[in-house]
Amino acid sequence: MGRRYRFVRPLVALLLWSWLSPAVAQENLTLIYSGNLDGELEPCGCSDEGNFGGIKRRASLLATLRTETPGLIALSAGGLLSSDGPGDRLKGEYILKGFAALGYDAVGLQWRDLAYGTEFVAQADVPWVVSNWQGNEATEIFASQRSISRAGHRVVFFSWLDPEASPMREAQGTHSLASESAKALNAGLKRARQAGGLTVLATTQTPAQLIGRVDLSQVDILMQRAAYEVYGEPKMHGSTLVIQPGSRGMRLGRLDLDLADGRIKHWRHTVLPMPESIPDAPGMQAWYDEYNARVKADYLKKVDIRKARQSGQSPFVGEERCQQCHVPQHETWFNSQHAVAYEDLEAVNKAFDPACIRCHTVGFDLPGGFVDMNITGHLLGVQCESCHGAGRAHAEAGGRKPLANAGWAKEQMCAQCHTQPHSPGFKLDRYWPKIAH
Ligand code: HEC
Ligand code: HEC
Ligand code: HEC
Ligand code: HEC
Repeated sequence: MGRRYRFVRPLVALLLWSWLSPAVAQENLTLIYSGNLDGELEPCGCSDEGNFGGIKRRASLLATLRTETPGLIALSAGGLLSSDGPGDRLKGEYILKGFAALGYDAVGLQWRDLAYGTEFVAQADVPWVVSNWQGNEATEIFASQRSISRAGHRVVFFSWLDPEASPMREAQGTHSLASESAKALNAGLKRARQAGGLTVLATTQTPAQLIGRVDLSQVDILMQRAAYEVYGEPKMHGSTLVIQPGSRGMRLGRLDLDLADGRIKHWRHTVLPMPESIPDAPGMQAWYDEYNARVKADYLKKVDIRKARQSGQSPFVGEERCQQCHVPQHETWFNSQHAVAYEDLEAVNKAFDPACIRCHTVGFDLPGGFVDMNITGHLLGVQCESCHGAGRAHAEAGGRKPLANAGWAKEQMCAQCHTQPHSPGFKLDRYWPKIAH
């Protein structure tokens, strides 16, 4: 129906008439949808168009829409967080709190939302949905579906976490957190439809990628992979209405549905921008001020660390300094896996996660140790000082002073990082020969 409505222009007026006509039983339902905030608490105001969107403005817009249409349902395809920069974790904490306050009815889970682990995601009351979760943890925060009854209608929301897209697929076995089988999802969709519910499925894939796995004939509305910033035009794919959110939280999508027997008869799509004329929600001000205060405090702390480092107070000097006097040892180390431990974190988009950095850099959490790439770019990866301990005193005394970990047994050095969960196959007599120098 939607396709004809769009392309057969003379019919539009007629259809609109029949839709608005009081003679036809009106069963209207309004969905507000979005997806892939991608870590934007508030998109920057750098461009000419200025600062569009942001959680504070979205809160106002949603409040207005809910006053006008009390039965509306707000759905997100997820993708709220980002882990591309050093400030993203803190921002993520506030995005989750802010999102909880927006009162969404259901939010799909994407891999990027797991960037800081499942506990991080659980800190705010966001109605997460993931329909193919098979991890042991977090089952109580992730629902496999959410049923929303509003204005005489029932919408059942599902979300499919693409098992092939796990960012850490090979690295840490998170691949297996998402089931490759859509059997449970397909059964859930069918049950929901049989009970008269309107089914909505969110995913980061396209309909073509789902075919052969997900039964699209049981999906009324598919929220497919988000487009960059701009919302896509809805399209019919078989009997499924496919909608495409735009990223970075600059707009909201609105779908006004005319239902008969719980199925979509007509739909109208509108994209709602968030220009400056939409005021920030006063209720979100305290949240925003607290976030800014935390950002400032973090910044000042880093300035202090940088100052301390520049004035030579750090006990760590970095591998280049050791190389000056220990060329063969350095060469062996340089060709080992330890030398690329930070690059390997970057490859899985985890170079800003303290939970990972700890074992993939030098002296993290120790005075004068790794802070971030910019301040301490000489302490990336597992280096000499990760095992031998801080070496400034030793280096400055031409080797006549001991290193911080002088006297440590090999086992003790390795055990700092080669723990059971992170290196299950560790055996000193197998591992040491690979790095012996
Ligand atoms: C200016 C030269 C110089 C620099 C720089 C230097 N060392 Fe040494 N290092 C030496 C000398 C000389 C010895 C031998 C000392 C001895 O045998 O008494 C030595 C010995 C060592 C030993 C063996 C110690 C032992 O007790 O057997 C280790 C390990 C070591 N250095 C690691 C490092 C590390 C790690 C760095 C960088 C943080 C570093 N060195 C920087 C000169 C240097
Ligand atoms: C307790 C220390 C520790 C922590 C914390 C840690 N790692 Fe590691 N990581 C290791 C060790 C040790 C290895 C090497 C394992 C081996 O080969 O036996 C490793 C290996 C890796 C590799 C390389 C795998 C390969 O195939 O080459 C990646 C990628 C990685 N870790 C990512 C992460 C991520 C992401 C996190 C945070 C979620 C993390 N690590 C947290 C110690 C740690
Ligand atoms: C993964 C831990 C680890 C790393 C990384 C590491 N070392 Fe070592 N290093 C050791 C251990 C353990 C020994 C003692 C070996 C032994 O007793 O046989 C050692 C021994 C040495 C020695 C004494 C060698 C000798 O001939 O007696 C020097 C010098 C040294 N390391 C320098 C370095 C330098 C320089 C780097 C960085 C370029 C480095 N090490 C990186 C663990 C490490
Ligand atoms: C500061 C943390 C840390 C310490 C200390 C450490 N390692 Fe590692 N090790 C790692 C990480 C992280 C990796 C994975 C690097 C990568 O591939 O990205 C790794 C990888 C390795 C590998 C390569 C594994 C492979 O599959 O090829 C060997 C071998 C190894 N370590 C041996 C040792 C030994 C032996 C010691 C103790 C003498 C030691 N490591 C101490 C963190 C550490």
